Amino acid sequence: MTPILIAPSILSADFAHLAEQVQAAADGGGTVVHVDIMDGHFVPNMTIGPPVVKCLRKFTKLPLDCHLMIENPDQMIPLFAEAGADWISVHREAAVHLDRTLHLIKSHDCLAGVVINPATPVDTLSEVLDIVDYVLVMSVNPGFGAQAFIPNSVRKIRQLEEIRGTRRLNYRIEVDGGIAADTIPDVVRAGAEILVAGNAVFGHGDPRSNAQKLLKVASAATLQRV
Ligand code: DX5
Ligand code: ZN
Repeated sequence: MTPILIAPSILSADFAHLAEQVQAAADGGGTVVHVDIMDGHFVPNMTIGPPVVKCLRKFTKLPLDCHLMIENPDQMIPLFAEAGADWISVHREAAVHLDRTLHLIKSHDCLAGVVINPATPVDTLSEVLDIVDYVLVMSVNPGFGAQAFIPNSVRKIRQLEEIRGTRRLNYRIEVDGGIAADTIPDVVRAGAEILVAGNAVFGHGDPRSNAQKLLKVASAATLQRV
């Protein structure tokens, strides 16, 4: 069985102490660093660009999972890859030539992911599921941390899990938005393997013990998978 990966999202971290916060989350069992890239166009918020990814790359050996919430992703993919991204995901809704974009990511030796917003059906991915390394199901509308989990995401995760089995594909399933101790059991039982958590890790208290707690809840839920 695929182990669950906790991917702390630095969107909710204290950017003035980013390295320490990432280290604390890693000490608590975070194994992927989720980096939210927003351009103020595709989503109504702006965050960070390649220079911050470059700094993180020097600091940590953990995979850097760059979630591009931007228009014209092809333009920026080479820059993020050169800055040290290991995984790059693009939104279905933002990629006009999705097949080309996914191959562009792979040509930079990064894992390629595709992301769907809450209103985008899983069916729209049927032609690329054999190309992608992972599918990211947004369980909130992208743009901000600490929003409420949208329950319909569980059904979409289950659908992706079933398609993977039927078509004998290998993509991993990631979920992002409103992930916390109360939502983890349902998404893990449905088939999610990479759990992005921003507010639940960095929003309050100690990131180390917060990550530890999420990993514990997730591990318990894997035993209840049907
Ligand atoms: C939202 C981002 C998420 C965000 C999740 O657009 O893609 O990665 O950090 O935040 P929480 O875990 O606080 O819902
Ligand atoms: Zn994200």
